[in-house]
Amino acid sequence: MAKSWVNLAERIGADLHLELTGKGGRRAALTRALREAVRSGRLAPGSRLPPYRSLAADLGLARNTVADAYAELVAEGWLTALQGSGTRVADRVEPSLPRRSPRLEPSPVGGRRPAKTGRPVHNLRQGQPDASSFPRASWLASARRAVTAAPNEAFGPGDPRGRPELRHALAEYLARTRGVRTAPGRIVVCSGFAHALRLLFGGRVLRGPLAVEGYGLAFHRGLLSQAGIRTRPLTVDGDGARVDELTGRERAVLLTPAHQFPTGGPLPARRRTAAVDWARSSDGLVLEDDYDGEFRYDRRPIGALQGLDPDRVIYIGSVSKSLSPAVRLGWMVLPDHLVDGVLAAKGEREAWAGVLDQLTLADFLASGSYDRHVRRMRQRYRARRDRFVTALAEHAPHVHVTGIAAGLHAVLRLPAGTEATTVDAATRAGIALDGLSSFRHPDAPFPPEDGLVVGYATPPDHAVEAALNAILRILPPRAPDQHRL
Ligand SMILES: Cc1ncc(COP(=O)(O)O)c(C=O)c1O
Repeated sequence: MAKSWVNLAERIGADLHLELTGKGGRRAALTRALREAVRSGRLAPGSRLPPYRSLAADLGLARNTVADAYAELVAEGWLTALQGSGTRVADRVEPSLPRRSPRLEPSPVGGRRPAKTGRPVHNLRQGQPDASSFPRASWLASARRAVTAAPNEAFGPGDPRGRPELRHALAEYLARTRGVRTAPGRIVVCSGFAHALRLLFGGRVLRGPLAVEGYGLAFHRGLLSQAGIRTRPLTVDGDGARVDELTGRERAVLLTPAHQFPTGGPLPARRRTAAVDWARSSDGLVLEDDYDGEFRYDRRPIGALQGLDPDRVIYIGSVSKSLSPAVRLGWMVLPDHLVDGVLAAKGEREAWAGVLDQLTLADFLASGSYDRHVRRMRQRYRARRDRFVTALAEHAPHVHVTGIAAGLHAVLRLPAGTEATTVDAATRAGIALDGLSSFRHPDAPFPPEDGLVVGYATPPDHAVEAALNAILRILPPRAPDQHRL
């Protein structure tokens, strides 16, 4: 006979009784009892819950019953489950959090989200890979090998070009997987795409005006405007940026050819060629932001545009989507004539990208760990995407979803005039995400479109289902006269 309560005092250092009563079976009763204990403050933020096996033994329940109850509370945001530190009560959980408006992180992109602090229950904000999947063990193995093998001079002041080991490994990797035409001497290591923009424009290597896609990251537009660079938005349609709108006035154009950010189309071959032709004929440059080029699901990855003309294209990538934005490592593959200018902008010594991390990434690439990690994550994200698309087709067939052939996010197209209320409904339901309009350039030469940008890669695996179900509940119903959006 199962017990109806347990005293967890020895395990969590608190005098806690769990009453397993009420309707819905043992799992529902345990979930309710734990939720109530967290909500009332009897289980304090940060306190560790007992392992499944011991709580199951104490309560006379099956281990899976406890595991399911924990997973549900993690998905709701009451508990957190981190590899190596077990299941804990989430920090800053407020009583009755799911019923109140969630308290959100300040927006990385600006937008109309209220800048509050705290955690949403379901984080579906685009921009970050599943942080729980960081390959801790293989990264540590690379770090150990790299630091052991590093020559003494590696521990001196860093070279602004970046470690040769990393530039060699990148040249091989980018040529093999992305079709980038380069040699290590044309690669400059940086701390990511944002740093590349700061160096190129803040460092006065390039000047404006700069043509940009009519949809993009407001954070990047902000960096450019701080550097005094005027941006001119191009129309974005289902095939990405309308490069035929480029004129002789712009000095460069910034594109996301593999996967237009955030709407999702790959730039078709004729537009790629037209962009390079424009650069050749106007003495301009193309900046290629290859932020998630490795994650293409249904066909072979589309090669980098840089391969068309390495003297006219600056190729920029980083590990922010493939590994983690916390690593802060990226790279620029430059036309020869720009290398010295970028190095001058960087200064005499490396002040941005730690040498030990660079050596670790070099080993991670050379040992095949990076390929293995990307392959594993590609399968995982593809499975999530498929589940999401299937659920949408079943429960909200009137909502058209785009940008799903690649990347870590999808765009849900909404009926005109419903974006603001849907984003508000999401906020009230504890879902963090962005409306499509927060990515639109203020001077974009096309009318605003309503949509949601959903980062399905962001939650850990066990929380995805609940997060996606939560979205289905807040989508607007089909408008009376709505056909396909
Ligand atoms: C459009 C776009 N470009 C580039 C990046 C990568 O930025 P960084 O390398 O500075 O982390 C991101 C990351 O979220 C992005 O959304």
